Amino acid sequence: MRTVIKGLGHYVPENVVTNHDLAKLMDTNDEWIRERTGIVERRHVGRDGDEPTSVLGFKAAQKAIENAGIDKNEIDFIIFATLSPDLYFPGCGVQLQEYLGIDTVGALDIRNQCSGFIYALSTAHAYVQSGMYKNILVVGAENHSFGLDMTTRGRGVSVIFGDGAGAAIVGASDDESRGILSCNMHSEGKYAEELTMQFPGTKYGWADNLLDEDFKIEIEKIYPHMNGNFVFKHAVTRFPEAIQEAFEDAGESVENLKMLIPHQANLRISQFIQKRMNLSDDQVFNNIQKYGNTTAGSIPIALSEAAEQGKIQKGDLVCLAAFGSGFTWGSVLLRF
Ligand code: ACO
Repeated sequence: MRTVIKGLGHYVPENVVTNHDLAKLMDTNDEWIRERTGIVERRHVGRDGDEPTSVLGFKAAQKAIENAGIDKNEIDFIIFATLSPDLYFPGCGVQLQEYLGIDTVGALDIRNQCSGFIYALSTAHAYVQSGMYKNILVVGAENHSFGLDMTTRGRGVSVIFGDGAGAAIVGASDDESRGILSCNMHSEGKYAEELTMQFPGTKYGWADNLLDEDFKIEIEKIYPHMNGNFVFKHAVTRFPEAIQEAFEDAGESVENLKMLIPHQANLRISQFIQKRMNLSDDQVFNNIQKYGNTTAGSIPIALSEAAEQGKIQKGDLVCLAAFGSGFTWGSVLLRF
């Protein structure tokens, strides 16, 4: 039995936020953002919106179910990857189960940030291969705009991130021309606080402190903190390593690669990997220009768009790769 992607879907909020819009809120400009990241615009749910992360995931999931041509009741497990859950606990998986109105199937939450979808897909693959589940709904979704510092203080982080969700129906197939060929997952926890959001968390304060009138929490703790340069340097090393490993494990040659779909962290990172791996423009899919970095949502959104645009066809060799907070990184090689 092979593990195949039976259907894909993605959803982004309607509200477009351009670089020029951000320049009205903080000391930044279109030229800086484009030059350093390639990003032109991103989507934000906006404060008036009624779209917590699980709703974004639900909208993507509905499209993936339709695209797979299955009945929602055929889903026998849910895996939901996000760093921006609706609630501190429980995770978004159970809320998605409720929105879908399906039987009491299990729901697992993955907290691996930008590598979230790689970890989620690899986990789904293991379940399918063990024979435990047949149709797993795998979702990556983020509502970043909820927690970004939209002042000059936060500009090094806030200009990068956007909201959105992607979903895949992952299941068993006896079609030997398709399926996941290899997966790898890595982590290096010594760098956990180089890209982090500290509060709420059990390391940096007690919940009842919030009730104390004199309690002051440092601003850095409630917004994401990123040592951008440091993350960039690790990303450009780890991405090619993970991609190479995927090909070696599968016994495939990079020459046969149809499409690399890297996590959309920064267009300059994708271009660096492309050059390092000697890939043509047609072999690397990028949509960060439109959506920014949607963390766990970025790979499934890109995969869904690449398929929708006919850039990948059934049987094509496709590599997915990610690096991000944790640090965590990894890749999946598949015949689409
Ligand atoms: N607009 C204008 N100027 C800015 C902005 C902004 N939005 N942000 C920072 N600057 C300024 C800084 O203050 C600094 O000014 P100074 O030289 O006077 O001190 C200057 O620009 C350079 O700042 P750097 O932080 O060194 O900029 P850098 O070139 O490193 O780009 C960036 C920053 C885009 C964040 C880059 O480091 C990057 O992409 N890093 C990797 C991000 C990543 O891959 N994250 C992993 C995934 S995310 C996840 O897992 C959740």
